[in-house]
Amino acid sequence: MSFIELKNINKKYKGNEKNSVTDFNLNIEEKEFIAFVGPSGCGKSTTLRMIAGFEDITSGDLVIGGQRMNETAPAERGISMVFQNYALYPHMTVEKNISYGLKNMKVPAEEIKKKVDWAVDILGLTEYRYCKPKNLSGGQRQRVALGRAIVKNQKLFLMDEPLSNLDAKLRVSMRNEISQLHRKLGSTTIYVTHDQVEAMTMADRIVIMKDGVIQQVGKPMELYEHPDNKFVAGFIGSPQMNFYDVRVDGNCIIFTDGSRQKLSDSVIDKLKGYDSVIMGIRGEDLKFDEQNLGLFADSLHKAAINNTEIMGNENNLYFEFGGITSVARVSKYEVSQIGDQVDFVFMPHKMHFFDKNTEKTIVSAQ
Ligand SMILES: Nc1ncnc2c1ncn2[C@@H]1O[C@H](COP(=O)(O)OP(=O)(O)OP(=O)(O)O)[C@@H](O)[C@H]1O
Ligand SMILES: [Mg+2]
Repeated sequence: MSFIELKNINKKYKGNEKNSVTDFNLNIEEKEFIAFVGPSGCGKSTTLRMIAGFEDITSGDLVIGGQRMNETAPAERGISMVFQNYALYPHMTVEKNISYGLKNMKVPAEEIKKKVDWAVDILGLTEYRYCKPKNLSGGQRQRVALGRAIVKNQKLFLMDEPLSNLDAKLRVSMRNEISQLHRKLGSTTIYVTHDQVEAMTMADRIVIMKDGVIQQVGKPMELYEHPDNKFVAGFIGSPQMNFYDVRVDGNCIIFTDGSRQKLSDSVIDKLKGYDSVIMGIRGEDLKFDEQNLGLFADSLHKAAINNTEIMGNENNLYFEFGGITSVARVSKYEVSQIGDQVDFVFMPHKMHFFDKNTEKTIVSAQ
């Protein structure tokens, strides 16, 4: 038995024509860190709020610790939650806001003080301890909301975009803090984000959603290397995977600009019966170095670089190829300039192929 079981969960809001969540099935083990990720409006918050008990479940079963919880009041589900639209008590200081829930739970004063000391310290709020929310920035307020939830030390921790109001630097350090906190406290965590980097870096497993439907559940690298469909392939990874409309011709694919790419026998075998498919390949699997150009010389391509993004540790190169603006990710030692004419190859075993109609994966990278 899993710690949390979501069985055929559906949600239809009153007045809406369509379901906001459809046939959601997921088992979560104790101590797991699960991320729900997907574009705006895909049903992440709705699912989380159904688990917390702030939203009715239209149909299906929610089981926590072996007990059906559909009708259990939020306070009795053993959950701490950080909301997407958190509300702090405006008349209370940071300290009071953080400790309020503990007081209600009748935690002894000494223990409350210890917990608040710890929370304000790790959240970088020590100097704001006696400030009221109106004197705090958005990011500081968000940290107070986080503090309020972490001091409760519940078995299940639900977070809805808890870092969305923080600046980039703070977001990275808080990401790290939350991961460490999770390891320390061992509380099962469900973390909602639209940011695939947060999901990739923090989660044990990622649940990726679109239009209320789970697209894939898996470990970060499983999703990255073996996406089940084009949506997952495009959502995970930055810059986005290059997608080409190609025709299958013998042992080659032909791009819309006429370029040809040779395929291995095993891939050709799997593409049998398809006239045209979508080929997807990540930016880092386009190679410009002598060694790879030599190895895969039977499918050498040409690129005229028309834009570059210099990131310091690595660079993105943009160029027109195969009917789209393609992007390649290269190391800082391989800088190309705008206007450069260069040769490149696709790493043959890193190509993904998707059905054009269903967008499901036919062959994923090896
Ligand atoms: N209270 C509500 N009443 C009616 N429809 C709602 C309500 N809350 C959400 N919805 C609808 O349900 C769908 C899912 O919304 P939800 O808030 O769960 O998305 P989300 O994935 O959390 O998006 P975001 O990343 O923007 O927070 C949306 O189409 C939204 O319009
Ligand atoms: Mg949301």
